[in-house]
Amino acid sequence: MIVITTPTGTIGHQVLETLLDSGEPIRVIARDPSRLSSHTRERVEVVQGPHGDIDVVNQAFDGADAVFWLVPPDSHAESIETAYVDFSRPACDAIKSQGVKRVVAVSALGRGTAMAGKAGHVSASLAMDDLIASTGVSYRALTMPSFMDNILRQVEPIRNQGMFFGPISVDRKLPTCATRDIAAVASKLLLDSSWSGQDSVPILGPEDLSFNDMAQIMSQVLEKPVRFEQISFEAFKAGFIERGASKAFAQAMVDMMVAKNEGLDNAEPRTPESTTPTSFRQWCEEVLKPAVAS
Ligand SMILES: NC(=O)c1ccc[n+]([C@@H]2O[C@H](COP(=O)([O-])OP(=O)(O)OC[C@H]3O[C@@H](n4cnc5c(N)ncnc54)[C@H](OP(=O)(O)O)[C@@H]3O)[C@@H](O)[C@H]2O)c1
Repeated sequence: MIVITTPTGTIGHQVLETLLDSGEPIRVIARDPSRLSSHTRERVEVVQGPHGDIDVVNQAFDGADAVFWLVPPDSHAESIETAYVDFSRPACDAIKSQGVKRVVAVSALGRGTAMAGKAGHVSASLAMDDLIASTGVSYRALTMPSFMDNILRQVEPIRNQGMFFGPISVDRKLPTCATRDIAAVASKLLLDSSWSGQDSVPILGPEDLSFNDMAQIMSQVLEKPVRFEQISFEAFKAGFIERGASKAFAQAMVDMMVAKNEGLDNAEPRTPESTTPTSFRQWCEEVLKPAVAS
């Protein structure tokens, strides 16, 4: 039995789609099962409720061989550490009490770097990894740079102004990965019962790109000029507050971006194993272009 959290989320639903064809028994945890397609509901067992709740995870993890764990972004969090670590505490209790064998979770790059302790969302993700690892379960933390899919949040300015914005220096080359590649790696690990122990699995996409490189590729694929504009960290933070985020969430975004701007995501050496297939150009053609056109 494989248990999938966030089956309606960006990564979670792609993990679910892949595993549905595997023939393995699947159980999902969903706050609102009506958000799952009827096709999905017919083929999986559903435990209703938030996966931060002890009764929900105890029920969901009963008899589970493997769990896909993802902490939802909580833009109202009063503390970012709480949002990741306290959210994961009930699951860690249930991993132990229900005897879950293997856990694959969504985390972030940065372990072992000088910035790891002051990198906002990344620091909290790494603390979550430590908590899960402390249960003794066999564990793989998927460690990612920023997702290509984050750019979908800026479809409007890309469409209307030919611009997108961020606080990272225009020429800093960074790895970036597509969520479809994260789901593919997660699915493979969830189906493979041969691994044990605890480790990180970096997912780096096929190449490092600067935001200027991305703008150039977007211009070519969208067949219109697209420019990246660097904004100040103050303006970046103010944008989150204006959209209703808590101060803690906004500050954690800033702390993470400062660390990325100082090389947080460049520390992991690229290897054939950490290089994943979807290029930014392919992602733009298959995901961004239809989103901008619609
Ligand atoms: N974006 C990046 O560049 C990046 C990089 C590295 C790591 N990450 C990590 O990736 C994760 C985000 O993954 P994603 O993009 O797939 O997320 P997402 O698309 O935002 O999906 C969030 C999921 O969580 C559920 N959810 C929301 N609030 C919830 C709550 N309070 N309790 C229970 N479930 C809740 C949502 O379901 P319903 O609303 O249907 O209930 C949805 O299924 C985060 O942990 C983040 O730290 C992100």
